[in-house]
Amino acid sequence: TSEENLKVNFINRDGEILTASAKEGESLLEVVIRHHLNIDGFGACEGTLACSTCHLIFDQKAFDQLSSVTDEEMDMLDLAFGLTQTSRLGCQICMTKAIDGITVRVPKDLSDARRDQIEKQSKQ
Ligand code: FES
Repeated sequence: TSEENLKVNFINRDGEILTASAKEGESLLEVVIRHHLNIDGFGACEGTLACSTCHLIFDQKAFDQLSSVTDEEMDMLDLAFGLTQTSRLGCQICMTKAIDGITVRVPKDLSDARRDQIEKQSKQ
């Protein structure tokens, strides 16, 4: 099945929604790369579970449909900034019909948080 008949929406850090077509079995990291989606710093280790830059936040319904998390993914997720109950690493999530049309959120990263902090301080 090499048809791109699935869809995924990414809510980028600035709130912009990026919609991309996806193939069954393709990881969310592959989708981001193939469509050149402009998500800053995403997928730094190219899916080798050596970073947490592909951290994505799912809604509960979609999260429940995902394959279970491995110990290796869990170890990396633990290091992710802004971890939630429905966080996963995008390189470990493969598109299936069950999650067609999902919307996933790109969490703020550490550098964004620092920037916010600096902006807040400069306003005081
Ligand atoms: S891209 Fe590095 S863990 Fe997913």
